[in-house]
Amino acid sequence: MTLSTELAPTPPHPISSELAEGGLVAKFSAPDGAPAFAVRWNGSVYGYLNQCPHAGGPLDFEGQVLESSGRFLMCARHGAIFEPDTGKCVGGPCRGARLTALAVHEKADGSVWLGPAE
Ligand code: FES
Repeated sequence: MTLSTELAPTPPHPISSELAEGGLVAKFSAPDGAPAFAVRWNGSVYGYLNQCPHAGGPLDFEGQVLESSGRFLMCARHGAIFEPDTGKCVGGPCRGARLTALAVHEKADGSVWLGPAE
């Protein structure tokens, strides 16, 4: 069984441009159909289920999950903030909980894939 599934970018933008630093997330479905997103932060790409550990809702607001300083992911519902590289909640109603991480990797051509690097 392979976990590698190409992320489906929203046309007409290529996935690499959607994952510009500090930009909008790329939304996709995890293998079980759960909503997920990939985001670029500090040059690396991270993937998480789009489900906040506080109340389960999506984190993003119109595709944005980074708060204004760009240092944290922020849930749009009640303002929980998360470390972008670990998914750990460091402030807000679910402090200490974690987002569910998904392995993603970026190829040399800028395309982002679900699953560990080959
Ligand atoms: S649902 Fe995310 S902080 Fe409440």
